[in-house]
Amino acid sequence: MPSWDHEDCDPAIEAEHTRLYRMMNRLEPVIIQGQSDSKIARAIQILHDRMAEHFQVEEELFITADWDSRRVMLDDHRQLLEMLARLGRLPPQDEHARKVLFHAFLEALVRHDNDVDAPLFSRRH
Ligand SMILES: [Fe+2]
Ligand SMILES: [Fe+2]
Repeated sequence: MPSWDHEDCDPAIEAEHTRLYRMMNRLEPVIIQGQSDSKIARAIQILHDRMAEHFQVEEELFITADWDSRRVMLDDHRQLLEMLARLGRLPPQDEHARKVLFHAFLEALVRHDNDVDAPLFSRRH
């Protein structure tokens, strides 16, 4: 499981990402091989809502950023939420598809954190 590990990051943003990754760690086994369809659906919904809230906070903090950086951020956030929405629409019995898509989501999120969030929220600005 990936973790947030970027030096020179704003401490509040760092703490927020650490909480997010911790939550994903807890939800991963439930999302991939949960005991029941309703538990799986609930875990995906919780993650989706929490990520939506996280992205909104970042977008509000970056309201004055230059337009290009902001557009990249908004596009990434939209695509990441779409992946979680797609995850929620998979047939509950398709554990393999859920695993593949959830791991693709994590990979895309780590890429976004490295390329977008870490530089935008660096204290060096
Ligand atoms: Fe972000
Ligand atoms: Fe983020």
